[in-house]
Amino acid sequence: MQTVVQAAAWAQTLGLPRLEAQVLLLHALGRAPHDRAWLLAHSDDALDTAVQATFATNTQRRLNTEPVAYITGQKEFFGLTLHVDHRVLDPRADTETLVEWALSCLADTPSPEVVDLGTGSGAIALALKHSRPDAQVCAVDASADALSVASANAKRLALPVDFHHGSWLAPLNGCTFDAIVSNPPYVASDDAHLAALKHEPLSALASGVDGLDDIRTIVRQAAQHLKPNGWLLLEHGYDQSHAVQTLLGNQGFVNVQSRPDLAGILRCTGGQWPTVK
Ligand SMILES: C[S@@+](CC[C@H](N)C(=O)[O-])C[C@H]1O[C@@H](n2cnc3c(N)ncnc32)[C@H](O)[C@@H]1O
Repeated sequence: MQTVVQAAAWAQTLGLPRLEAQVLLLHALGRAPHDRAWLLAHSDDALDTAVQATFATNTQRRLNTEPVAYITGQKEFFGLTLHVDHRVLDPRADTETLVEWALSCLADTPSPEVVDLGTGSGAIALALKHSRPDAQVCAVDASADALSVASANAKRLALPVDFHHGSWLAPLNGCTFDAIVSNPPYVASDDAHLAALKHEPLSALASGVDGLDDIRTIVRQAAQHLKPNGWLLLEHGYDQSHAVQTLLGNQGFVNVQSRPDLAGILRCTGGQWPTVK
């Protein structure tokens, strides 16, 4: 019979990082992912065979590059527990930079109107609504599957967000916003990393030969959908800040600037639509 500490060590010898082994073990035990202190306090407890079998299966899934969040079915984002699965991209901690930036841009705007384009699990839209209950938050995705995940998260978290199915701003004809926020697909279609991603939806990642097709569309459309001084804030690839700044500048945006992610990489770029154009 394997103990808690032996099971975690076994997964690590197969190549799983310690933290991932602990999270998968907690999941097999039916415990919360942050309950790592429990594992320490119970390191010599024997695991029953059903828990061992679940842990072994999930360790193999992880070794087969499936994201931990798809295996456990949940991910923490901006203090919210989101349910996620293979229909949506696993929300990344770096995307919290975009949420923080949006909140600071909207700090002086009462009851701001905001849209999250390409909402996936609903991460950005729900984080904004949670932090600014007075905001009117819309979210768009081209994937009906993603919208099912996002609206279920909104319902479970009791955060009212207005979801729309369609391509970027097309479903919001005639609407204008104080901020348009998006983490769109931005990987070049021939990027070698895409081939390694077997579990994530490709439509959430790839965007033309230079990875900028969707960002070009959003920048072009946003000009018609921002109030004067409204912000367009975009997450993008590690080497795309200069290109995105140029796109925004050419479209007529002002105050164009970039923000670093947790690793210090310029990962978000945005600008303001001017008062007089
Ligand atoms: C990189 S994922 C971001 C998901 C989520 N916002 C997050 O940060 O975790 C991009 C999302 O854009 C959506 N998407 C792709 N093309 C789209 C389009 N033309 N219009 C709207 N959404 C689109 C995908 O379905 C996917 O959910």
